[in-house]
Amino acid sequence: MATETQVHVGLEGIVAAATRLSSVDGQAGELIIAGFPLERLAPFATFEETIFLLWNDHLPSQNELAELRQSLASQRQLPALTLEVAQQLGREQADPMDALRAATATLTPLADEKATAQRIVAALPTIVAAYWRARNQAEFIEPRSDLSHAANYLWMLTGNEPRAEQVRALETYLNTVVDHGLNASTFTTRVIISTESDLVSAVTGAIGALKGPLHGGAPGPALDMVFEIGTADRAEEVLRAKLARGERLMGFGHRVYKVRDPRAEVLAGAADQLFANDGNRELYELVRHVEQTAIRLLEEHKPGRKLQTNVEFYTALLLHGIDFETDLFTPTFTISRAVGWIAHAFEQRAVGRIIRPQSVYTGERNRTWVDVAER
Ligand code: COA
Repeated sequence: MATETQVHVGLEGIVAAATRLSSVDGQAGELIIAGFPLERLAPFATFEETIFLLWNDHLPSQNELAELRQSLASQRQLPALTLEVAQQLGREQADPMDALRAATATLTPLADEKATAQRIVAALPTIVAAYWRARNQAEFIEPRSDLSHAANYLWMLTGNEPRAEQVRALETYLNTVVDHGLNASTFTTRVIISTESDLVSAVTGAIGALKGPLHGGAPGPALDMVFEIGTADRAEEVLRAKLARGERLMGFGHRVYKVRDPRAEVLAGAADQLFANDGNRELYELVRHVEQTAIRLLEEHKPGRKLQTNVEFYTALLLHGIDFETDLFTPTFTISRAVGWIAHAFEQRAVGRIIRPQSVYTGERNRTWVDVAER
């Protein structure tokens, strides 16, 4: 009987792709990006180096890196329609991910897929910045070709010369979230590419998947909790009250990582560096205190569950530290993750088989037609 077929709700435990791009080991608390344990890559690589690594499976030589930097930098200007869509949606105060999705969809796929890949990656920061400036009734700032991918993004958002510490913090963040196994938006990319569709369609679809709060999430609430606490002496009282009310502490616990989220650790290190000489050291100390208190109380609350800090907690702190408002968090995540999506698209192309699982029919089988007049 068909109804006895097991349905793998959420496809949990189903292996649907082989990849050289990233490995997520929740038991060991380990994330490998194209052969590198995250902590050996993220704090050191420029984002361009990470792009090259994911798309070519080796680090670039100096020449290869210079070529990629130059090529991306030369493609930062948007086609008129793309710019107009981003700005118009900014003026209308549209949701940032809706604006990013709509503007990205106006890009035209090129015959050469590698060229399309660069086109998309080069365009995304300009789209976000164009939207952001228009939304804030500020003038569009032209991209600069003398800056790195990350530095130029900061420049276009603010018009201020980006500081080295800010750029390093942003690059470490972008490197940290660039790929994470077969997550929902990456799977979306692979499904679209498997139909022999194009990269622009795949990235547009993936943006739609990333918009959902169960995926792209909102690191905002973790920081809101810290602001609500306000001073270190209130941390225990506020957190205890939340747990007593049955609330979850935002930024703690993870579906996959049961030891530690390696991304949280890398971002905590980056935040430490950033706040050491640039930014609000008091806030940083408060965050550390809230973290330690939360982990201690969660251990009391759910003994043995090892609820640890997750990526959202330090993402919020780090992006706040480079003056990003909460609404920029998920678009900035997208700017990074699109590189991972595209790398998966290249892998999926090589597989050359459509992704087409099955469903089990649970409806009726023998209904009788009744004319509308008689219903
Ligand atoms: N605060 C309080 N309690 C928590 C908690 C948190 N942050 N995270 C988990 N728990 C509780 C769960 O309710 C569960 O209790 P139960 O057994 O009585 O139902 C227990 O701890 C074990 O949970 P676990 O199985 O380890 O987690 P999960 O897979 O069910 O949930 C999350 C994972 C991420 C959804 C969950 O930890 C959470 O909601 N965290 C806060 C939101 C957040 O930070 N999201 C961003 C994730 S990147």
